[in-house]
Amino acid sequence: MIDKLKQVENFWDRNLCGKHFINAKFPSKDFFEQYRNFRYHKEHHLNSFNDYPSALNKDVLEIGIGIGADGTQWAKYAKSYTGIDITDEAIYATKLHFNILGLKGNFLKSNAESLPFHDNKFDIVYSHGVLHHILNIENALSEVYRVLRPKCKLILMLYSKDSFNYWIRIQLYFRFWFLLELLKKKFCFKIKEPWESHIKSYNIFGWSYFSWKNWHHHCTDGPDCQIANIYNKDEIIDMLNKADLVVEKIRKAHFPISCGLFPNLERLLAKYIGFYYFVWAVKA
Ligand SMILES: C[S@@+](CC[C@H](N)C(=O)[O-])C[C@H]1O[C@@H](n2cnc3c(N)ncnc32)[C@H](O)[C@@H]1O
Repeated sequence: MIDKLKQVENFWDRNLCGKHFINAKFPSKDFFEQYRNFRYHKEHHLNSFNDYPSALNKDVLEIGIGIGADGTQWAKYAKSYTGIDITDEAIYATKLHFNILGLKGNFLKSNAESLPFHDNKFDIVYSHGVLHHILNIENALSEVYRVLRPKCKLILMLYSKDSFNYWIRIQLYFRFWFLLELLKKKFCFKIKEPWESHIKSYNIFGWSYFSWKNWHHHCTDGPDCQIANIYNKDEIIDMLNKADLVVEKIRKAHFPISCGLFPNLERLLAKYIGFYYFVWAVKA
């Protein structure tokens, strides 16, 4: 039986974040360009939330780099950019992405819960959509505190419980749909993904797979995702306070409807019931 951390690593190694949205050959200049265009259209809030020029003359650490799109934006301005990720695939993709754009960066395969850096090394720590996927977020936050210089900044994105996606889509709609697919399977109808994978896991783990505590882990980044925690605002503030990281600002973003079709509606819903909490915190 492989341990949970290895399972997390294997999942992300097989599922390089966002790769499946792009048709161009991977890896290629075309692929990375299409990925950046796709990302900054779909996640349009990143363009205003992330103040990349504020990295001028600063040492930036990114935790969980994925394909490296945001990394390339920070690296354009930063004195130094360092990216860590638990998978070889993300390190490989981001290194190539940086090379193609002629940018400099240091890349290390490492676990967010034990950072291979000395204390007070960075001016900005950025982590987008990562710390809700790790085994112990408290460990990661205390590592962030350790490597940040005093009064320096953490910028974080975590999944939000105070959202349409959590209550309506995951806990209600997906549950109902899953039960329907289970019924279809019993009567030998053909089942499509992701329900086939959900049913496979359900057959192994039984009702606990479907329990209130477990179900959401498998309904954000795919059925095989091992850990996807979802937090409310108070839980986030509490965790950061415990790590001596003082929250300066929290904003919502990302609503799962096409922003191309209904841009204003998407922005309005995202602001109040979006699935992403962006958090800006300072080392006390
Ligand atoms: C959802 S992706 C987000 C990637 C990127 N930040 C983005 O916004 O596209 C999560 C990333 O976190 C990495 N990751 C997961 N657990 C980790 C850990 N314990 N330590 C470091 N990186 C981790 C995964 O390999 C993956 O690249």
